[in-house]
Amino acid sequence: MPNDVAVVILAAGLGTRMKSRQAKVLHRAGGDSLVGHAVNAALASAPPDRIFVVVGHQAEDVQRAVAARGVRFIHQTEQKGTGHAVLCGREQLEPLGGLLAIMYGDCPLVQSETIAGLIEKQSSSAAAGTLISTRLDDPTGYGRIIRDANSNVRAIVEQKAATPEQRLVQEINAGFYCFRADLFWKHAGEIRPDNPANEYYLTDMVEILIRADHFIQPYFIADSAELLGINTRVELAAVDRVFRERMVRDLMLSGVTIERPETVTIDAGVKIGMDTVIEPFTRILGNTVIGENCRIGACSIISDSTLADEVEVAPFCSIAASTLDRGAHAGPYARLRMQSHVEPGATIGNFVELKKTRLGRKSKAQHLAYLGDSTIGAGVNIGAGTITCNYDGAKKHRTTIADGVFVGSNSTLVAPLEIGPGAYIAAGSVITEAVPEDALALGRARQAIKPGWAKKRRTLV
Ligand code: UD1
Ligand code: CA
Repeated sequence: MPNDVAVVILAAGLGTRMKSRQAKVLHRAGGDSLVGHAVNAALASAPPDRIFVVVGHQAEDVQRAVAARGVRFIHQTEQKGTGHAVLCGREQLEPLGGLLAIMYGDCPLVQSETIAGLIEKQSSSAAAGTLISTRLDDPTGYGRIIRDANSNVRAIVEQKAATPEQRLVQEINAGFYCFRADLFWKHAGEIRPDNPANEYYLTDMVEILIRADHFIQPYFIADSAELLGINTRVELAAVDRVFRERMVRDLMLSGVTIERPETVTIDAGVKIGMDTVIEPFTRILGNTVIGENCRIGACSIISDSTLADEVEVAPFCSIAASTLDRGAHAGPYARLRMQSHVEPGATIGNFVELKKTRLGRKSKAQHLAYLGDSTIGAGVNIGAGTITCNYDGAKKHRTTIADGVFVGSNSTLVAPLEIGPGAYIAAGSVITEAVPEDALALGRARQAIKPGWAKKRRTLV
């Protein structure tokens, strides 16, 4: 990492073409905000205290989106253009000297190696600045790179200001620059808003520095895919797709089997171990970590959760902010949420919901149950239809079920409640009082038999 570079990320605009109340850089693709991706790409080339994000529209929200990454901020209260945005940081940036790299917060696909390559190219040359260019079949909307007869870069002309011939130029400004900071600041005051949009264009620095007898070096990148900027939601969806394709490809190359990968959504922060199989239409989101040799069933959604090795999730499960230990099983159609924890070898079956509940080693809740705010020991059997009544209309209460308990089907466990080790709950019981160790608790009406009653009724009708 070079130690004399500062990176500025422009993220103050609203993004009118998104047609959104939310600032463009807060929109998400590939499991992170657009500005988050830009910061991640910059972090490979500069320490966080030398990365400056220019904020304006919804400044607080944009700051919140990336503050945890330790970066600094520059405030641009009025958005008067990309050149103006950098000038707003003059006090913070000029004393740093060295190299000034600038990128936009709406180009999230750029790889960190590309930013590093740009900085490297500038630092090993005598140019005043280096900028990334590429060629697009349809360059509409981008600034065009204007070269002279010797094919040296002369200027960048924005779409709105371009002549009809200039609009035919397919080489475009991708929006990634690295300048010698001393020269940049010496001339930055010369940017004027003399264009149809009345904005201070950062791109004018190219002509300004050339006029002052310096030269600007292009860094041409043939594969334009990673340089795409996002201005509309159509482009947002296209970029999201590229992220997903990158993610599943990297995982497959690292030993994860992904069936029908084009149907699977995996966020950038997810980690998955070798020989795990991901079935079609799954969504694995946030900071989820999945171990080795697991199987994630079709159409399951897992977010911010930790799954150890050998975990099996059958199809159609929803697992959020929860933990499954080695050899645990969930689903089909299981729901785990809010710090639920399934211990080794335990089983959650179909239509079972766990909320803030710990299910002990090798315990089973195979069918149709709600277990909320509960601590359940090892080797417990929870019968079909068991409900913990954890809410009394005002407060939540806990249920504690000790090791080896058998809860019969269709039991209603009214919290707060403690069930001692080895106890039995008779099927269909409503249990409201503590059950001691090894006891049988029955809480239901006694069955009555009326012999011949049915036959008699049939003869009456
Ligand atoms: C810009 C370039 C264009 C280039 C294209 C590449 C300029 C004048 N034009 O055009 O040459 O081909 O990017 O994607 O630079 N922003 C601020 N403050 C402002 C204005 C913008 O922070 O006052 C931020 C926006 O939030 C955005 C970024 O700068 O993240 C780029 O702005 P945008 O309006 O999208 O520029 P383009 O028209 O795409
Ligand atoms: Ca843009």
